[in-house]
Amino acid sequence: MARTSIVIDTDPGQDDAVAILLALAERGHLDLLGITTVAGNVPVELTTANALRLVELAGRADLPVFRGASRPLLRKLKTAEFICGPDGLQGAGLPPPRGAPRDAHAVAFLLDTLRNAAGKPVTLCPLGPLTNIALALAQEPALAARIERIVLMGGARDLGNVTPAAEFNFFVDPHAAQIVLQSGVPIVMFGLNATHQAMATPERVGRIAAHGTAVARAVTGMLERPRPGGKAKFGVEGHPLHDPCVIAYLLWPELFTGRDCHVAVETAGEASIGRSLIDWWGSQRQPANAHVIDRIDDAEMFRRLAQSLAKLG
Ligand code: RIB
Ligand code: CA
Repeated sequence: MARTSIVIDTDPGQDDAVAILLALAERGHLDLLGITTVAGNVPVELTTANALRLVELAGRADLPVFRGASRPLLRKLKTAEFICGPDGLQGAGLPPPRGAPRDAHAVAFLLDTLRNAAGKPVTLCPLGPLTNIALALAQEPALAARIERIVLMGGARDLGNVTPAAEFNFFVDPHAAQIVLQSGVPIVMFGLNATHQAMATPERVGRIAAHGTAVARAVTGMLERPRPGGKAKFGVEGHPLHDPCVIAYLLWPELFTGRDCHVAVETAGEASIGRSLIDWWGSQRQPANAHVIDRIDDAEMFRRLAQSLAKLG
């Protein structure tokens, strides 16, 4: 089977880290052309350093990392150190990176990659705020035709996680999210209602820890740390693995079900800004612009995730 060419756009973040490691573990199926970083969980200097730490952990210091947007298109940056720790990878226990990002900006890399993608479209995998993707689409709209699909983590059909209305990635940059959703590019969207099914419970983390590799130790360290609020607040142990769902979908689409819906993003409301308005019942009679995932076979996903991560040293 031909490999899928992908670019991961990311704000590592522990869940981003597991997604990146999964993609690197499955290089027989996924041709990761590069990683572009964006401000989100932590400022872009740190998300970039974290992306470098992760490719070095996986023995792929050759993989190009490109620093991207340091702030959303219009809003002030909101970060999430209270969740992922001051450097964004609390628990990983990784040394500072040895390498450096490439000179080109992330958006320039995205555009160059799409220009060179004639005949072999590229799948974009945004795992953070969509600022870089929106900037690339705004700069050269015609290159949208070279994007095979955008498989993204963002939004929520039900409650948000930053406000009752909004999920973090869409909350940080709602204008970018709206630009991407209106781009006409085929989109697969993993909102919180789907990704909250992907719980890294102690039993599931234990299966990864058992490999005893450097990657297993880093992943275990990240996922074993207490989740703010934890079981008392959420009723279940463990961290939701939002971003790995995106990569798992590319590898094992049979584990996921969803529905084609029209999705818009609130960009003006005070209390509701960043809300993803998913027309699940088609009541607005507007053309669908995203395939919204709502069910995950999480047990099988974690079984395969553990097997894949074991491929990395
Ligand atoms: O709301 C969860 C999303 O926001 C995840 O991608 C997490 O890494 C943060 O970016
Ligand atoms: Ca993320």
